[in-house]
Amino acid sequence: MGARVEGIDLRELDAERFAFVHQAWLDHQVLLFRNQTLTDAELLAFSRRFGDLDEAPVQESGRRFVEGHPEIYVVSNVVEQGVPIGSLGAGEAVWHTDMSYLPHPPKASVLYALEVPERGGDTSFCSMSAAWDELPEHLRRRAGDLRVKHDGTYNSGGYVRQGVTPTGDPRTSPGTLHPLVLPHPETGRPGLYLGRRRNAYIDGLPLEESEALLDEIWAAATRPSLTWTHQWRVGDLVLWDNRCTMHRRDAFDATARRVMHRTQIRS
Ligand code: SIN
Repeated sequence: MGARVEGIDLRELDAERFAFVHQAWLDHQVLLFRNQTLTDAELLAFSRRFGDLDEAPVQESGRRFVEGHPEIYVVSNVVEQGVPIGSLGAGEAVWHTDMSYLPHPPKASVLYALEVPERGGDTSFCSMSAAWDELPEHLRRRAGDLRVKHDGTYNSGGYVRQGVTPTGDPRTSPGTLHPLVLPHPETGRPGLYLGRRRNAYIDGLPLEESEALLDEIWAAATRPSLTWTHQWRVGDLVLWDNRCTMHRRDAFDATARRVMHRTQIRS
């Protein structure tokens, strides 16, 4: 998982180059493009080559998007005149797949770095198809037919989404049930579909059994050997496939500025 694509200016993607990028994305799951200089309109235009876009998700601070572009979600710790310009703060963002608490989560996300701290705020990715391939046999046998609740209470920063009343019971918290193992709709390759750990629940199991099984699967699925960590530079753009990867972000100095613009491509 993970590849760096060089020699491409994403403002000038003809059909042949787009076909190359699209195939590379399916092959490698996460792509990094460095030294890009995109306006918001160009970020939207590149993202739309892959499909229609979803609007920014509702986070702890509501729906934080770029003025006039509700599809550009702002990930940032910056507060201007007492109002956060984005979401997720400066703390750790735990492993997750974007917006999987919804019935139809986006197939891909594009994250573009506008301002980054000197240290920290690295983003790691984990291949869920490799996680499935390497899952111990006794877990593969159990996981095959199960469905798991993807909780919609907390975002990856641990904040409660605006408008949601939190409950500590994973069985009754808001969210969506998805199969625990899913074939990738374009490549056919099977993968785990875990969403996020907090408030996850395996449908139909006693709560303790669900917790124990999820703990075991999560530990196996997020082993460091299955992950890749990216240290951001301004102008980096990362495109990932939400159907076969998860990601997390390291904390960073809260007094530093980190401003990222993200789009979500509809399945
Ligand atoms: C995200 O989860 O989309 C944000 C990741 C990041 O801030 O690096």
